[in-house]
Amino acid sequence: EILCELCPRYILVGEDGTCLGEEYTKFAEQIKNLEVRNDDVWVVSYPKTGTTWTQEMVWLIASHLDFDGAKKPLIERFPFLEASSILNSEKFNAILKLEVNKFEDTVKTVRNQKSPRFIKTHLPFSLLPDEIVNRTKTPKMIYVTRNAKDVCVSYCHHGNLCQGWKTNVENFAKVFMADRAMFGSFWKHNLGVWEHRDWPNLLIIKYEDMKTDLPAVIKKVAWFLDKHLSDEDIKALTKHLSFDSMKKNMALNGEIFFDMLRKHNLAPKEGKFLRSGTVGKYKEELSPETVEKLNEWIKQNISGTSFEQYYD
Ligand code: A3P
Repeated sequence: EILCELCPRYILVGEDGTCLGEEYTKFAEQIKNLEVRNDDVWVVSYPKTGTTWTQEMVWLIASHLDFDGAKKPLIERFPFLEASSILNSEKFNAILKLEVNKFEDTVKTVRNQKSPRFIKTHLPFSLLPDEIVNRTKTPKMIYVTRNAKDVCVSYCHHGNLCQGWKTNVENFAKVFMADRAMFGSFWKHNLGVWEHRDWPNLLIIKYEDMKTDLPAVIKKVAWFLDKHLSDEDIKALTKHLSFDSMKKNMALNGEIFFDMLRKHNLAPKEGKFLRSGTVGKYKEELSPETVEKLNEWIKQNISGTSFEQYYD
């Protein structure tokens, strides 16, 4: 068995043994007991599936295309619920607390947000607040997913860039398939939400669909959020959400954060959060043997479910 070799401070949490940062235990109860509001808008996802892209789309649609308001950092408009719990070393924590004290208690940030709140989380369904799981509250939730192989490669680069990992794609694929990357099993995460796909307050979207036909996904999300967008609006939003435009957008491209990490030698000199933004790029990075293993792993995990995954 592969225990997490990415970080000695990762622990296994909950009945499913989800791999999380050890700081999570400080927030677990508060997250479970969070008072959810029916007018909250949640973006839920496994890391590297297109969360940031989805958040920006959702925020702008829900905010009547307030492009001016969107100049404020996304992390402030759309806080990351458990961000405080993913910090992974004393040095990392100390520097973050020093430089960005907003990270100190992100659950409190969410609790104190004015309505309508926008909330991002990577937690698996079983660790979401009780009021969501038992349906006493029905906030709108958008879940985004992506081809597991692209997620695997993207996650490896991301971890090396800003989680202090020192690994390569071949090795990371093993950790990923052993469910020992942070946020645990990709499949438990996806299938845990897929089980509830008939909930009227849940919309599941795919990264690949956003790549193929972003205007169609924008329309679907607008309909889900009860917002009307004109053709002009859709055009403007599609442009704003393009990879090139987002890459330059300091409100969400992470550059400020990475510069801060680099200043303290906590991130490699090279590397971008908006890295490749493509479908199927894993083919250039993973060996054919590893791709074969991943294909087998995907098949095993989705067989007997109606979950669809793009294989290519
Ligand atoms: P890659 O590393 O494959 O490039 P998350 O926000 O969940 O961390 O996901 C990040 C991934 O989404 C990265 O994938 C990033 O490049 C991609 N992404 C972000 N914005 C995008 C956009 N506008 N168009 C295409 N891909 C985008």
